[in-house]
This record gives sequence, structure tokens and C-alpha cells, in this order.
Amino acid sequence: MRQTLVAGNWKLNGSKESIQTLVKGIADGMSGVGGKAVAVCPPYVYIPMVADLVEGANIGLGAQDVADQESGAFTGEVSAAMLKDVGCQYVIVGHSERRSIYGEKDEDTAAKYVAGQKEGLIPILCVGELLEEREAGDTENVVARQLDAVINLAGVESLADAVIAYEPVWAIGTGKTASPEQAQEVHAFIRGKIAALNEDVAEKVQILYGGSVNGSNAAELFAMEDIDGGLIGGASLTSEAFLAICTA
Ligand code: PGA
Repeated sequence: MRQTLVAGNWKLNGSKESIQTLVKGIADGMSGVGGKAVAVCPPYVYIPMVADLVEGANIGLGAQDVADQESGAFTGEVSAAMLKDVGCQYVIVGHSERRSIYGEKDEDTAAKYVAGQKEGLIPILCVGELLEEREAGDTENVVARQLDAVINLAGVESLADAVIAYEPVWAIGTGKTASPEQAQEVHAFIRGKIAALNEDVAEKVQILYGGSVNGSNAAELFAMEDIDGGLIGGASLTSEAFLAICTA
């Protein structure tokens, strides 16, 4: 049985004050989440503060991105070793906003994935198609290409120590969720693709769904066979909305 993981991606949101309220609220509600794992991914500068706030609360901590380099003259970057040093266990790589707004290529994402794993961080590898790609019938090709970039660089076995997040780009922040059946179809495709290379890894790897998940749709999404939790954006910004998903 794979454990369910619910991870909050706060994106470019929050302040010291709002984050204190948010994390305390989540910590207070943790008794209701059952056996699920819960994690939050704050903006870089708040990670040390959140690390203190989550101590002893059974809430995991992740970053939203990471440098593909270890150290040196890379102005503005934050390394995997630094993230580990300040208490992260996870790092999101290849989020569609990094890909589409900041021009991150499949190969860049794969390099960040490797950099994270090298320091013992668990990458949350985001994959997903644009609306026009879905409409053109290209969903599986796109997701396969994004996965292959990582498998080619890091090997399929590396996915045993990673999390995959399927996030159809047309469902992110739009209020349009993939139906549980639409999501399950792609999750099964991803697991099948991995199983063709290594069945044990395919059985083990957690595949999260992301894209307008909320307290009303989480339970039916998480009930699908190959959906092992969610990566949550908008609904992770208040403890009420986030806990409604964690307890779903
Ligand atoms: P959303 O974002 O829940 O606001 O759609 C999900 C994500 O981008 O990870």
C-alpha cells in the first residue's frame, strides 16, 4: 500500500505573519489527517522559519525549486545542499510555471531532480500537458517526454526515491479540475510506463494529482487506484482549505 501524500505549494505567497497563522492552523488539525503524509513548500526565505514551526508536528517541508548546480557563481540560485541544511525533505522540480514562465526545459528539470536527490531530497517531479496538447491528443506523448528526460539522466530506479505529480496545466489555478477518471487515466499511463522498465519501482512510486484540488473534489480523486495524493496550490494557503483536503 502506498501512503497518501498531500503537499501544499504556496508559490509566491505569504508573509511572516500569515505563514505563522497558516502553519499553526495546519499543525492544530494534524490529528484529523489519519495516515496521510502532509508537507508544505514555502518560498525559500521562509523555509527556516517554517522548519521551526513544523518541528514535532509531523509536517514535511519542501522547496519549490532548486539550482541544478552545487555551488559557485550562480547569482540568485539556491542549492540542494542549502535546502537540506535548513531542514527540507522535499523539492518540487519542473512545475509548469517554471517550465512555461521561466523557460525551463525537460533537461533543466532533470538536472534539478538529480541535484536534489544527490543531497537526499525527495524530488516532487511535475509533469503535465497544456490544453492545446490535450486537445491534439498529445497528453501521453508530452508526459512520456517529460518523464523520459528524468529516466534517461537518473535511471528508472531513481523514481523509487521520488514523487511524481501529474498536473494538467489547464487545471492549475483555473478552478477546472480533471475528472477523477481523466486523472486516473494519465496516472495509470505513468505507472504503466514505469512498470515496463521496473515493476517494483512502479508499484512503489507515489503519483500525486495537482490542479484545482479542493476539499470538495479531493476525496473522489484520492479514491482512484493510481492517485496517491495531491499537490495543492490555491487551497493550501489557508489551514481550513488545506486541512479539508488532508482529511478528505
Ligand atoms: P492549484 O495549483 O491547486 O492552485 O491549481 C496546483 C499547483 O500548481 O501545484
